[in-house]
Amino acid sequence: MNRVVITSAVTDDVRQLLYKLDRHSTETVQHSMRVANLFMACLEHYQLFRDIWGSLFLGALLHDFGKYFVPHTILNKKGSLNHKEWEIMRYHPVFGYTVARQSLRIGLPGQHLILYHHERWDGYGYLYGRKKAEIPEYVQLFSIIDAFDSMTNVRSYQKTPMSAAQAKKEIRDHRGTQFSPTYVDLFIDFPLEPFQQPSGSLFFQSEYRR
Ligand SMILES: [Fe+2]
Repeated sequence: MNRVVITSAVTDDVRQLLYKLDRHSTETVQHSMRVANLFMACLEHYQLFRDIWGSLFLGALLHDFGKYFVPHTILNKKGSLNHKEWEIMRYHPVFGYTVARQSLRIGLPGQHLILYHHERWDGYGYLYGRKKAEIPEYVQLFSIIDAFDSMTNVRSYQKTPMSAAQAKKEIRDHRGTQFSPTYVDLFIDFPLEPFQQPSGSLFFQSEYRR
């Protein structure tokens, strides 16, 4: 099993949480690191939300921290979750948000990213059913990148990953329903090539330090 190496820029308290999550679910930490990396690269490319990069980077790294509280039997289940299992799983954003709010100073944008990352543009996401402008703009972009990474990598619920082109098509197909049209357009135009190298994507830059 690959161990996660977390370099520079990540403060000790955040690092400890990531190591803790890594012991529970390495797959989740690897996903979080890829997503945080791609998200920051996209923000940098378009020079978006520059004044809150530090907070967003830490929020992105910890967006799924709440899965630490979800048992392995649910997290690694091959088939679909039953009602009771789903009732636990769907609360992972608020579990993670609670930890971040109580024990870290990652800033409000990062906290909101953790709390709202499963909301959908059309209001059919969870936990709050927020829609459109009720969802912070940086979360609108983040949820696209989160979905892209899940589709293009092997996850416990998906053995065969999609190609980047297939995943982009899938995202385009959900433009205006699951995802914000504005941020779908930005993401589709974002040059992904540097991130498609097997080991080229895990870097953390000191400028994201809070
Ligand atoms: Fe999540």
